[in-house]
Amino acid sequence: MSQTLWLKLPHGEYPVVVGQDLLTTLPHWPDGGEAPKALILVDQAVSALADPLEAELQHRGWATARLSVSVSEDFKQLDALMEVYGALLDLKATRESILVAIGGGVIGDAAGFVAATYQRGIRWVGVPTTLLAQVDSALGGKTAVNHPRGKNLIGAFHQPSLVLSDPACLNTLPERDRISGLGEIVKYALTYSPEFLTELEQHWRRLLALDPAVLVPAVARCCELKLQAVAADEHDVLGIREVLNFGHTFGHALEAATAYGSFRHGEAVLWGMRFAVKLSQVCGHLPEAQALRLLTLLWQIPVPPLPALAWPVLRNHIKHDKKARGNRVRWVLLQDVGQVYLDLDVPEAALEQVWVSINHPGS
Ligand SMILES: NC(=O)c1ccc[n+]([C@@H]2O[C@H](COP(=O)([O-])OP(=O)(O)OC[C@H]3O[C@@H](n4cnc5c(N)ncnc54)[C@H](O)[C@@H]3O)[C@@H](O)[C@H]2O)c1
Repeated sequence: MSQTLWLKLPHGEYPVVVGQDLLTTLPHWPDGGEAPKALILVDQAVSALADPLEAELQHRGWATARLSVSVSEDFKQLDALMEVYGALLDLKATRESILVAIGGGVIGDAAGFVAATYQRGIRWVGVPTTLLAQVDSALGGKTAVNHPRGKNLIGAFHQPSLVLSDPACLNTLPERDRISGLGEIVKYALTYSPEFLTELEQHWRRLLALDPAVLVPAVARCCELKLQAVAADEHDVLGIREVLNFGHTFGHALEAATAYGSFRHGEAVLWGMRFAVKLSQVCGHLPEAQALRLLTLLWQIPVPPLPALAWPVLRNHIKHDKKARGNRVRWVLLQDVGQVYLDLDVPEAALEQVWVSINHPGS
């Protein structure tokens, strides 16, 4: 049972398959030319997932090599990637070869960047193994590595040739990483779809428990929404993909202010959405009753508490948001579920008021 979605772009299209048994059946696998070769880059936390995929490729006559790596943000460094380029060279990979990325957002971002740059670009296939990667990072072709001065500062747009999202890949995912993915899923519901939000309000605990009856349709729905945004604005220049930044302005600042050590990305986005919903209300865009409804859901999903941070420290990180133009931060706010409002003139007093309120939610 699987669903295939297509990302249609002016220069081509590729399938994103969501469903079961994908690692043994490899649907829509790209053609490998006369001497097909694949390097499988896999997060060592999930290296067993590479076994059926590699066996099936070999059965189909592919020459394969596997590189299993320990994953942390440190892997998204140019230095660390030399080992991957080296493995491609050892395999004598050509422009027809394929790099397969099995892992979460770190592996996907790094593999995509290697694929964008090895011999000026080879194809890659994403097999996302975190919920966050299945609903977000594996889609859309943004690849990146970090610079000591900031995250994701070096990168390229390089679309994969195929994405295989199998719920079985998530079976070993720790609870906090599942919550992190849920954060991004809630973002899609809040920004695009009242119906999806209603479903999540009823079933988010089943989703967290990886109940396939809820999980598979939810992942497919998110993929559909993200692919629509990417198809309309592949290189993120028209403002259409900006919607996907909901909750991220505050979330990114929180991650940076805590040196990327305290929150998973989606956990920080959950805090960011608590902030953005309250800010939408305080700025008069979102009616109070609706804000209350959204905040009820957002406060139920467990995330680590806010650390003791001084507001000016966080405010400074917000000012340096990558998406800011000049000195103006582009706040993605809500007028209603599914109705996003881009506010470039949020008053300082409103920001500080919301900061105080999310630090003292009961008051
Ligand atoms: N390219 C994009 O559009 C985009 C979007 C959002 C985030 N990102 C990037 O994605 C990264 C975060 O992604 P992530 O949350 O997937 O992090 P991750 O890749 O670091 O994975 C999180 C943790 O889960 C482990 N893991 C992965 N799959 C597992 C599984 N099935 N079972 C058990 N453990 C597993 C990993 O080893 C790691 O410890 C960040 O680097 C962020 O910048 C990219």
